Amino acid sequence: MDESVVDMKGVSLAFGAKKILNDLNLAVHSRERLVVLGQSGSGKSTLLRLIVGILRPNGGVVRFKGREVSRMRRPHLNRMRQKIGMVYQYSALISSLNVRDNLALPLEELTDKKEEEINRIIDEKLDMVGMSDTKNQMPAELSGGMRKRIGLARALVMEPELILFDEPSAGLDPVISSVIDELIISLTEKTDATSIIVTHEMDSAFKIATRMAMLYQGNIIENDTPDAFRRSKNAVVSQFISGSTQGPILEKKK
Ligand SMILES: Nc1ncnc2c1ncn2[C@@H]1O[C@H](COP(=O)(O)OP(=O)(O)OP(=O)(O)O)[C@@H](O)[C@H]1O
Ligand SMILES: [Mg+2]
Repeated sequence: MDESVVDMKGVSLAFGAKKILNDLNLAVHSRERLVVLGQSGSGKSTLLRLIVGILRPNGGVVRFKGREVSRMRRPHLNRMRQKIGMVYQYSALISSLNVRDNLALPLEELTDKKEEEINRIIDEKLDMVGMSDTKNQMPAELSGGMRKRIGLARALVMEPELILFDEPSAGLDPVISSVIDELIISLTEKTDATSIIVTHEMDSAFKIATRMAMLYQGNIIENDTPDAFRRSKNAVVSQFISGSTQGPILEKKK
């Protein structure tokens, strides 16, 4: 049987009168790295928030490992969230806590692990992202790229089955960007995790993805392998990939 990690069926979401997602269908399978593409404001971050149950859909169903997220009560929702690591668009580290304590927080609040064990996990995850030296530093003392890597390490401390990355390499220099891309691949492979990566950096997208989905005007308009995306006949998809100003994307906005 096909075991989807995430399954969205007929999902609609509006903020007031503004429709963001409209009858959207998307399934993510075990150990895939699904890259979600879409213009700024198309609803990519919103889609991730629906998966972790921060937002509830106005219509349709969001399932995580077969269970309906929008019907979960608080304790169950919290248990589900322990299985999902989130790397936020803007790192979202707690500025008053040093790196060690930022990583310790989920372990202290959500598990009954002893300090020794917590320290071991923190050392292991910081080592994975090459940030072992920053343990005692404050977030404000780190560069944007370092903060992103710490955010990544924090998403891993609970050993998630699903990792959601929101613009993991936005605003980083090309070298650090590649480092992050490679980390996403190696970490998800090493931990057997499934991942969903939101990005509009095309080089990253093609490097990371085992599958791609393009979000446009509330719907997934293409859902296929990176190779198929490169050859796509869909004018919106090919315009987005090439970054051309010619095509349906800007015309529709007139
Ligand atoms: N809490 C909210 N209340 C009202 N409108 C919202 C809210 N969150 C998002 N929106 C609107 O929903 C749309 C989609 O937002 P979202 O953040 O999902 O876009 P995005 O695709 O992640 O964009 P970007 O690439 O710029 O991060 C935007 O028009 C945004 O203004
Ligand atoms: Mg966003």
